[in-house]
Amino acid sequence: MRKVCIAGNWKMNMTPSAGAAFAAELAKAVKDASVRVVVAPPFVTIGSVVKALENSSIEVGAQNMSDQVSGAFTGEISPEMLKDAGVTIVILGHSERRAIYGETDDFINRKVKLALSHDLDVILCVGETLEEREGGKLEEVLKRQIVEGLKDVSADSMENIIVAYEPVWAIGTGKTATPDDANSAHAFIRNEIEKLYGKSVAESLIIQYGGSVKPSNVKDLMAMEHIDGALVGGASLTVEQFAPIVRYNK
Ligand code: PGA
Repeated sequence: MRKVCIAGNWKMNMTPSAGAAFAAELAKAVKDASVRVVVAPPFVTIGSVVKALENSSIEVGAQNMSDQVSGAFTGEISPEMLKDAGVTIVILGHSERRAIYGETDDFINRKVKLALSHDLDVILCVGETLEEREGGKLEEVLKRQIVEGLKDVSADSMENIIVAYEPVWAIGTGKTATPDDANSAHAFIRNEIEKLYGKSVAESLIIQYGGSVKPSNVKDLMAMEHIDGALVGGASLTVEQFAPIVRYNK
């Protein structure tokens, strides 16, 4: 049985004080959750959120990380800084990082390996654009992002990896992939993982769906065989929406 993980990616929202107040309210609303819950605030908001969640099982993640350990890299944040701040997991390869900031599979792979070597779990995001999907390139793109993103990652380290399938055309657009479409992309990803690491790693891999997940569609998505969680953007910013997503099975 795979343990479901629901993560909220706050993107560039929530000041340190707003984030702390929100996190405290969320912790109360999801006290009875039986799933792994993660919130990923902006870097400067991490400290206040970690403090607000001191007595909660909600984990704090980061939305990005440097590919370097330390030194003259203005504006960057290292894995050690994240660990010391109380972060347990880091989102890497989000499509906004790929599209807006030009992050390549190779660059993302360096960050994945660095995070793992600092005992940080990783949510590796993959997903196709509308153009790629309509051009029949869905599988080619997913395969490349998986194979290159996980290059030189050992089978043992795979228990610290979550893959998030996020079709780019579904992010922030209100368009969700149908549960069947999402499930078949997830099945494809699991099969690629099986080719790389064997059946038992593939069977235990948590694959989240992301892209306009809301309280109204989470149940249908989570009912699918290969969907083991959600990476939520917009709907993770209010307790009214995020709590029912986390409590989808209550
Ligand atoms: P969305 O974002 O839920 O607002 O579509 C998801 C994501 O980008 O992780």
